[in-house]
Amino acid sequence: MAYKVPKLTDYSAAALEKAASECVRACAGEAAVRNDAELKAFRDRWLARKNGILTQINDLWLKGAPKDAKREAGIRVNQLKARIQKLVEGAHVAGDGGGAGVVERVDISLPGVLRPIGAEHPVVKTTNEMVRVFQKLGYSMADGPVVETDYYNFEALNFPPNHPARDTQDTLFIAGQQEKAQRERLLLRTHTSPVQIRTMEKMRPPIRIVIPGTVHRNDPPDASHSPMFHQIEGLAVDTNITFGDLKGTLDHAMKEFFGSSVKTSFRPSFFPFTEPSAEMFVSCFICGGSGKRGAEPCRPCKQTGWIEILGCGMVDPNVFEFVKDNGYDPRRVSGFAFGMGADRIALLKYGVDDLQLFFNGDVRFLEQLA
Ligand code: PHE
Repeated sequence: MAYKVPKLTDYSAAALEKAASECVRACAGEAAVRNDAELKAFRDRWLARKNGILTQINDLWLKGAPKDAKREAGIRVNQLKARIQKLVEGAHVAGDGGGAGVVERVDISLPGVLRPIGAEHPVVKTTNEMVRVFQKLGYSMADGPVVETDYYNFEALNFPPNHPARDTQDTLFIAGQQEKAQRERLLLRTHTSPVQIRTMEKMRPPIRIVIPGTVHRNDPPDASHSPMFHQIEGLAVDTNITFGDLKGTLDHAMKEFFGSSVKTSFRPSFFPFTEPSAEMFVSCFICGGSGKRGAEPCRPCKQTGWIEILGCGMVDPNVFEFVKDNGYDPRRVSGFAFGMGADRIALLKYGVDDLQLFFNGDVRFLEQLA
């Protein structure tokens, strides 16, 4: 139905607004003209001095306004006129391509824009699943910076000054730090363990945290190495935490993650920030621990029937000394920590034989695991 300028009785701001937007909508609707004759008729109908719609609005809305509403109505009518003028001047015959038409006609018969739906990256998915296992045990998630100081990455974790891990062979240092004191020099964190210290500085015991994150080491990329990879760290500190708690927690977590039939095995190891330290193995979930797949040797466990999954141990009292002031008196509290490689676990879980496939961004590979 063609637009007809209504008489106004209500001059409230809301009523003026409503009348104005109805008018704009009607004008935009009529702007869809098909030929030059229609375009001319449209322009005349809205802009003609003598009895065009804008002139009518001037007469009906402005001149008819009560004295105290005149000012407000005047402002509104002027704004409306400007908008209508723009609309009318912008109108053009559809398809003649002249200038940017204000009224764009949507061709609903055209196919829509197809946006490919992404999926969790297999390493992210593995990480989330593992984090979830610990969250169900009451652990909360913590994180920290990837660019770290020597202090958090090494010193507060009880690495002696000349420990080989501090050598540039393993650690990627940020350039131009020589002026700074050793503990303030920046590097790319080589493990997620610095977040143990950062969290203990912020939160008093007891704590139970799980820390997923990116880490870097100076390893050339190959099928099982990458200068960038991912770890999942854990830390529990309380009074009377024992090595039995460590074993029970990790054994439960592995059964939850890999399935209830996996077994765990702990073998002595060394880390500067845990004492005693261990490496934990799970029975190979690919060959079921037999070391063989039919007549073939099982490659992932190198025929041993066991796969090394993580490093762990009881928090070294020397580490607590660095956060003693926040309630971590090594005579009062004890704790355990563990750290595992998320990428390695994802490789094993998805049966992928080349780590680089995770990082070179080929969607044809990634969408197979989505
Ligand atoms: N940070 C160690 C690593 O990267 C793993 C670890 C974490 C070991 C916590 C013990 C306790 O190798």
